[in-house]
Parts: sequence; structure tokens; C-alpha cells
Amino acid sequence: MRTEAGQVVNLADYRPTDFVLERVDLTFELDPTETKVEARLIFHRREGADTKAPLVLDGEDLVLVSLLFDQMEMEPERYQAAATHLTIRDLPEAEPFEITITTLLNPQANTQLMGLYRSNGIYCTQCEAEGFRRITYFPDRPDVLAVYTVNIIADKAANPLLLSNGNFLGGAGYGEGKHFAAWFDPHPKPSYLFALVAGDLALVEDSFTTMSGREVTLKIYVEHGKQGNAAYAMDALKRSMKWDEEVFGREYDLDIFMIVAVSDFNFGAMENKGLNIFNDKYILADPETATDQDYANIEAIVAHEYFHNWTGNRITCRDWFQLCLKEGLTVYRDHEFSADQRSRAVKRIAEVRTLRSEQFAEDAGPLAHPVRPAAYREINNFYTTTVYEKGSEVTRMIATILGPQAFRQGLDLYFERHDGQAVTVEDFVQCFAEVSARDLAQFSLWYNQSGTPAVAVETAHDARKKQFTVTLTQTIPATPGQPEKQPMHIPLRFALIDAKGKLVAASASAGSAIEGDVLHLTRERQSFVFEGVAKPPVLSLNRGFSAPVIIRFAQSGDALALIARHESDLFARWQALTDMALPALAAAARTLAAGEAVQVDPVLKESLLAILADDTLEPAFRAQALSLPSEMDIARELGSDIDPDAIHAARQAIISQIAQDGSEIFLAVHKAMAEAGAYSPDAPSAGRRALKNAALSYLGHAIKTPQLAAEAYANANNMTDRSQALTVLAHQFAGTNETNAALADFEKRFGDNPLVMDKWFAIQATVPGGTALERVRSLMTSPHFNSGNPNRVRALIGSFAAANPTGFHRADGESYRFLAAEILEIDKRNPQLAARLLTSMRSWRSLETRRASEARKALETIAASDGLSNDVRDIVDRILKD
Ligand code: TRP
Ligand code: ZN
Repeated sequence: MRTEAGQVVNLADYRPTDFVLERVDLTFELDPTETKVEARLIFHRREGADTKAPLVLDGEDLVLVSLLFDQMEMEPERYQAAATHLTIRDLPEAEPFEITITTLLNPQANTQLMGLYRSNGIYCTQCEAEGFRRITYFPDRPDVLAVYTVNIIADKAANPLLLSNGNFLGGAGYGEGKHFAAWFDPHPKPSYLFALVAGDLALVEDSFTTMSGREVTLKIYVEHGKQGNAAYAMDALKRSMKWDEEVFGREYDLDIFMIVAVSDFNFGAMENKGLNIFNDKYILADPETATDQDYANIEAIVAHEYFHNWTGNRITCRDWFQLCLKEGLTVYRDHEFSADQRSRAVKRIAEVRTLRSEQFAEDAGPLAHPVRPAAYREINNFYTTTVYEKGSEVTRMIATILGPQAFRQGLDLYFERHDGQAVTVEDFVQCFAEVSARDLAQFSLWYNQSGTPAVAVETAHDARKKQFTVTLTQTIPATPGQPEKQPMHIPLRFALIDAKGKLVAASASAGSAIEGDVLHLTRERQSFVFEGVAKPPVLSLNRGFSAPVIIRFAQSGDALALIARHESDLFARWQALTDMALPALAAAARTLAAGEAVQVDPVLKESLLAILADDTLEPAFRAQALSLPSEMDIARELGSDIDPDAIHAARQAIISQIAQDGSEIFLAVHKAMAEAGAYSPDAPSAGRRALKNAALSYLGHAIKTPQLAAEAYANANNMTDRSQALTVLAHQFAGTNETNAALADFEKRFGDNPLVMDKWFAIQATVPGGTALERVRSLMTSPHFNSGNPNRVRALIGSFAAANPTGFHRADGESYRFLAAEILEIDKRNPQLAARLLTSMRSWRSLETRRASEARKALETIAASDGLSNDVRDIVDRILKD
């Protein structure tokens, strides 16, 4: 079950290791280009394992300096060091033995950002998923748990700080300007949770008293001068620790919890035991430089990594197929945390927006895979929205089916039974089945079947029998490797409402699978009967998005308008607006493509303006309601023969009509939401800003001059307002003096802050229209751009490819050729980053024929290139596969 470059790994082939690892002692002698690592590993043969089996360790890009067996140099004929493995033979049958491996690394030359590398002069590590094998030869798989001692030796002046997992044991001078530090982590852990940091960083310190009264020291390390920008992250950390105690009974388990922020990082952050390492984008914030969204992201990601301490670290994955076991569950936990800290309904709406635009898109294309895949060629490519976000939704459905109490009991049982173990999805589900005495076998299909289920809805009312019948039919589309599907268990929350939006009293007919406010759809086609319903009610289905499915329900405009105005569930109100808007937008795109003029549906317009003007609704919700489905959403609704220009033009036309007809209300709301007093990142204030800036964007379409946005830019006292005003200027008034002046001003103000310049890059990379590519090309020559830093590349090239449909899908295919060339360049340095960028081409087959053929040609040039990384090879082959 070992990952060979280019080979497929199958879940079905899992077997435990032949050797048990008892202890790990690591000594690092840090040097920018020649770091020496000594690993002392104590093993014994597993009981029952083949007594002749060799010990096979993983390795990658390593220079082996020496190899000892029980402190003696090992005879060369007993081992073989190949490019990806170290194989050692003739090992003891039962008694423990010690292997000492010395390897030489070049952290400075490590541009992949996996293993030990340097970021802005800081030594740091990233070992998930398979990075530890780039440090030493090791059984680098998550079911090998061991206790680690780590010694770090380094130049003292350059590296006053020497950190690793667990508790600090001690440190001292080490001659010739060097010093050392020793760390011990008492919790057995897999290698992917190992971390080391060394360098010169500033410290922000605080403490937290746990529920049992233990004091935990909290340390956040940032670049010198940035200490003031870590306050919000520290506050989020303390709130996360408290919340996990209160909501899930989980207490922190070491004396110290550390976070280090680094500027070169492939993902958001990493949950290494006791020593989280973060992309500094998700730590640093102040009103001048961070948007409300940045604050929300920091809160969510600090929480996410902290929550991993129990869901991921104390209980980890048996193998990488089980990744959702820690990621899906931990995303669910961070979603619930954010919902408790902010507005639950607005949070849910935002989650569902991203789920639909990212995960539904992934599930509908060539990269579709189950929440728990059965095979992979490159595990790095499975840190996907399906594993994370759909994985979270699957956990949420368990909570919906069981109810809050049994769900909590199930999790308690999971923590109690599996603490210290590396387990599977089956182990997890079993805990919920046991506490609830429910059969979750059919439900478990959610882990194994890919594709987004569609649920078709029919309703019938029988006035004489006073019966209301809901008939549901589920279909699950064919996906790569899965032509046939079985019906799933889909829990759908619902409400029956009357013409005033009041709940209709109705009782479930005997034998109907209705439990409280949940319909349990388990068969392909199934009817649910309600008794005592005199008048035909309006059905509000999939309330709170209880199941990640596509509902196909031809509800009348009046019924949707009723839900949009009167449902008590805010999520359902937003959903009804979306159900009106999305088909209207898709129809408009078709109309426009056929050369006819577009008219906004009056019911949709009136519903939106009514919500805009309704002061009883929280501003954040009103802002969400005003933000129409995206161009990507419309493309998904259309499904095939996509013309991004027609979609863009149709959406703009509808927005303009709403803006013009509602200009007075937009102006009034824009004024009413203006802030008095100092900036505060709290959720209600952020909601007011969101509504104000949504109004500003509509007003741009109404008044058609840049003045108002230019004023908003000039008066901004925080980054949310400033970046939103700049977006309106750049996207609606490109090339005007006002826009050019604001872009120049922004660069002058923030040119020394790379994280803020990422916003400047992203705003310009997403200016709609055919000239975007030239703009992106010229921005790549900007002194602020740095192709070696993943955040810069994602801000400029990533936003262009993923969030600028008209610019990226230029009909002549030039942007596809550009992206292909960039991917080949980036792949030489950072395969993970290159592979991630490439996924933005996953929906190429649904484009109209000319674009699709240009996209195919660009993809084929990638596929035909020599020396592709395993990461890019895996994605390009899957995207092109028929
Ligand atoms: N486990 C990390 C999380 O919290 C994800 C992650 C961070 C990661 N860095 C990585 C995954 C590098 C793969 C490779 O979600
Ligand atoms: Zn995670």
C-alpha cells in the first residue's frame, strides 16, 4: 500500500505494516543548503508478520549519508537505497532493533514546499500528506504512530527560535555560535503531523485555562513588526478552545499551543501537533489591510486547525483514503463554530454558495470522486472540495438523521473508543449506528458514491381526503468509474406553509417515512403523505440545505415569492430567491445568445427589492439576497454548450434593470448603512458593510458613472470598503481616470505589503472581458509579483483562471494556451500548485464547441510534455479522459 510515483494505490489493498515503530529520535543540524538529519528509529516485527519480510521505508529526494543497525554500520548487502525506498533485510524475528539513518537535505532548494524548506529565511516543514519522506527514510503513512523526541541545532544569531511538536525539554549553547533545543511530544503521532520551525520571529503570547483548570500557554509567531496583526487570530484561538469544550467536551492536551505564520505555503494551514503552521494570509489582520472576509477566514481556519487536535490528531486516519474522516468532520466543526459566532443563516447561505459553485462543479465533471475515494495516483490531488465540503455535509446529515443528542453521544463514543488510534470511516459511522440503534448501511453510500443526487418533486392535494402527498424521485448521475448508482438515504428537512407563511398543522400518515420535520428518502421513488391538510399548502423543501442535492421542483413563481417573503427559515428564503433567479438568468443567457433582448422577471425584481427595503432583516442577509447567482452558477444550470460571453452579458443586463428600477432604494440603503465611528470587524458591522457595498455595486450599474465608487474609495477607513470600491471601479469602469487613479493609489499605499497586493492582483485579474489576459501578462512583470510565492500565483493567475469566465474563456483560446504554459513552468518548481491551477480547466467539455476544442488542444500540450510531475500528470489525464 505504498505510493509509487505514477502508480495507482487502491483502498482494497490496504494491509498493516510488517514492523511496529516504537520510538523516533530526530536530530537536525540546520543549514540553509546542507541540513543533516539523524533519525534513530526503534522497531520490532509485528506479531504474526512474515519473519523474512524486509523493512521498507519511504524516501524522496534524499542523500543517504550513513545507516546504522543497533549503532553499528550496516553491511551494504543488507540494504538497498533506491530513489523512493530504503529496503533493509535480515532483521530480527521478534526483538526490538534500532536503525539510525543520516540524510542530507537542501532546504533552500526545496521549492515544492513539502518536507523541510525555507520561507523568507525561516526554516519550516510541511509533511502532510507524504512530505516526511523528504526529511528521512521512514514508514511515511498515517497508521504508523510513534512518540517523537526532536533535537534542533542551529546558528544562534540567525535562528534564535527553535521549535518542534509537544513540550520544550530544554536548550543550551552548542559551541561556535550555535545552540540547540530539545522537544518531546508525548502523544503518539503519524509522521504527517511532525513539524519543525527555526528562525527569527516575533512572539505574541497569551494563555488559556482549560475546563479542568490547566493553564495552556498560547504563542503565535509572526514576522518582526507584525505582532499587532496577530491579535484577532489569538482571540479566535481562545474562542475556539472554549467552544470545543462547551459544545463537544474536548479539552486541549499539552502545556503549550503554538502557531507560526509563514509567507510561502501551499494551502491554508496545517494542524501539526501543538505547532500549527499557517499561511500568514490566515493569521495577519488589521482594519487597514484585512477585509471582513479575511477576518472570517482567519477565525474559521484558526478554529479548523485547532479542532484537528481531536479530530485528526488524537484520532487519525488509517490510510489516506480516509482523509474525510478528519477533514469532513473538522470542516463540519468549524462551520458550526462560525455559525455560533456569527449569523447562523448567513453562514449557511455562504457555505451553500461555495458548495454549489465548487463541489457541485467538481462532482459534475471529470474529476468527480467519492467523499472516500477507492483509488488514487497522487494523494495531494485529493485535498478537494468533495473530501472537505461534501465530507462536512455528510457529517451534517448524520447529525440531522440522529438529532443533536444522539449525534453528540456518537461523537463521544468515537472519542472514547478510538482515542490514540488510526481508524476508518466505518469505525466512525459504527459509533453513530450503535448509539442510535439505526442501520446506517445505506447512508454510508454517501462516502462511496460520487455525483450530486438530483431529487425531483411532485405534489398532490386531495381536498376531499384532506391529504397532501409529496412524491420524490432520486437520480444519481454516472461519474468516472461509477456508471450505476444505488438509491441513497437523503434526509430532507421541510415545512408546509400557508398563504401567510405560517406552518400548516399536518400529521404524517402511518407508514410514511416522515420523522419530525425530516423526510427520509431512501427509495428511488417514494411518497410522503400528510393527513388533515384542508387547503393546498406551499412546500418548503431541503430547509437549511439538510442534504447536498439538487432539488428539481417546478414551483410556481407565487409559491417561491411566498417562501422568499414569509418563510421563517432565512436560508429557505434565500433559496427561494435563487430558485427564481437561476432559471431566469439561464433563460436570459439563451435569449441573448439567440440575439434577442433580455427582460427581468418582475416577480424576481419585486422580491429582491422588497428584501432590500426590509429593515427587519439583518443587513448581512439582505446583502446575500442581492448577490445573484454567479456566472459559474448559470453555466452549471445551462449544463452544456456554454458561451461565457452570453452568460456575462445576460447577467449584467438583469442587474442593470434591477439597479435602475430600484436606484432610489439602493441609494437610501447605501446611505443608511454608512458607518459612524471606528471600524470593528464584528459580524453585525460586517453585515452592514456588505449591504452598503452590494448597494454601491448596483448603483454603479444605475448611475453609470464612477463618481460614487471613487468617493467611496477615497473615504474608506477600512480594507473592506476600499477593496469593494476598487472592485466596482475596476470591473465596471475599467480605463477611466478614476479607476486608474484608485489603482495607482492602492499600489502606493500597500506596495510594501504583499498580502494586500494580492487583492490588487485579484481585482485586476477578474476584470471581465477579452483584454484581461493582456492585463494579467503585464501584471506578471510587476515588481510586486513573485512567481515563487503560491499566494501571489493564486491571486493573479489562479483568480484569472477560476474567477474570470469571460477573460479566461476567450473564444480564441489564447488564455488556455497561456495557462498551459504557466502550468508547465510552475510544475518544475511546485507541482502541487501547478496541479491545483490546472483544475480550473475541469469543466472544458461543457463549453461551446470552439472553446472546447481550443481547451482540449491546450490540455493536450500539457499531456504531451516530458517530465510532468505526478501531480499534474494525474489531473491532466483525468480531465482529458473520455
Ligand atoms: N490538513 C490541512 C488542513 O487543515 C491541509 C493541508 C495543509 C495540506 N497543507 C497541506 C494538505 C499540504 C496537503 C498538502 O486542512
Ligand atoms: Zn483540515
